[in-house]
This record gives sequence, C-alpha cells and structure tokens, in this order.
Amino acid sequence: MNQINRKEEVIRRDNVRIAASVLNCNFLHLADELKNVQDAGVDLIHLDVMDGHFVPNLSFGVPILKAIRPILKVPIFSHLMVIEPENLIEKFIIESDAIIFHIEASKKPEHCLELINNANRLAGIALNPDTALETIAPFLNNIYEILIMSVNPGFGGQGFISTTIDKVKRAKRLIKDAGKKIVIAVDGGVNTSNACSLIDAGVDILVAGTTIFRSKNYADTIRLLRCLK
Ligand code: DX5
Ligand code: ZN
Repeated sequence: MNQINRKEEVIRRDNVRIAASVLNCNFLHLADELKNVQDAGVDLIHLDVMDGHFVPNLSFGVPILKAIRPILKVPIFSHLMVIEPENLIEKFIIESDAIIFHIEASKKPEHCLELINNANRLAGIALNPDTALETIAPFLNNIYEILIMSVNPGFGGQGFISTTIDKVKRAKRLIKDAGKKIVIAVDGGVNTSNACSLIDAGVDILVAGTTIFRSKNYADTIRLLRCLK
C-alpha cells in the first residue's frame, strides 16, 4: 500500500464511530452499564426499539428512553424495528438525536423522513439483509445515514452475515456516484474479528452490543473495534 493510501486509511479509521447497542447489557444495572460504556469511550448509544410485529421480539419503549436520556453524554440513535414507524416517530423523536426506521416497515417513507427532518433530527433508513440496496436510492437527498443490517433484526448475539461487506462497498459506491455525504452504519454480529474489514469496506458507524457488553474490559473492546494500528 502506498503512503497516500495508508494515510487515508488512518484518517478513515480515526473517524469511525462506535455505537453501543444496549440490547444485551445487564438491565439490572442499566444506569451503570451506560456510565461504564460511555467512560470506556463509546461515541453513540444505539437503542433498539422492537414491537413484536416487525420483529418477533419486544424491547424498549419511550419511558426507558426518557429515563436514560439525562445520564447520556453522547448522542442517542433510536433504531425503530416497528411496523408503520410513522405512527411512533413523534413519540421517540423528542429524546433522540437520530431516528432510523426500516424501509420494509413503512408505506410512507417520505412522510417518516419529513417528520424526522422537520424536527431537526438526523434521519436514517435501515435495510434488512435481504433488502436490495437500491431501495434507498429515492431517498438519498433526505437521509443522514443508511443502516445496513448484518443480521436479521430482532435479537442480539446473532452471527454476522458476511455478504454485508460487499453490500457496504456497494453502498459506498452508490453514495459517491450520487455525490452525497451519507453515513454508512452496520448493525448486528459486529465483533473484533470483522470490524477492520467493515471499516476498510467503508463503514462509518459500527453498532456493537454483545461484543462490548459481554467483554471484560469495555474500553479495550471499543479500542479493538476502532481497528487503529
Ligand atoms: C438487532 C439489533 C442490533 C443488535 C446488536 O435486531 O438491531 O442492534 O442487537 O447486537 P449484537 O452486537 O449483539 O448483534
Ligand atoms: Zn439495532
């Protein structure tokens, strides 16, 4: 690798953000878990909202979001895995810095984006592993982030789907060809073994849950996920 490429790679890796998904943390000590993961250097908190319909699981509602918000020093991104997100966005938006909804779950994606952007929050669209990347093409003007799912949504602790790496590369190209600056996030099964390949493929935000919260030392794990040499 030549000097310039190496420098670009270092700059890229320096800019990668790590988001902690609290789905698999120790809920008996939620406040401590949030404090510890922030002290360990995480950049964002990722809140997985599940409705038992879009995904076969239930998780957090607005009361939890309201309760944790005051102790957060980093932004919180709410990942809505719910059908008809347009009906819930206004409830989650007040306490969230970003709202990410699934393209598969809404018949009114433009309306969702309008609600989020009009509230001056960051808007993201999430894609399930089987959803074609091209489905986001009409929305590139109005989104901050594409969240590429690297597991089928619903549960933490699943195995990473390796074809995601190629999807990230194609997303990077799609965004570049459109002349946009859109953040690429990957969510599900992210660990210290696949982080570097994901970053090299073009990921800007790595969402990691089990890998961080089941590790002994959160700071060491977060450092490894950043993949700095
Ligand atoms: C999956 C969620 C993810 C996931 C991350 O439905 O959206 O945020 O729980 O957790 P790990 O890192 O355990 O896959
Ligand atoms: Zn998520």
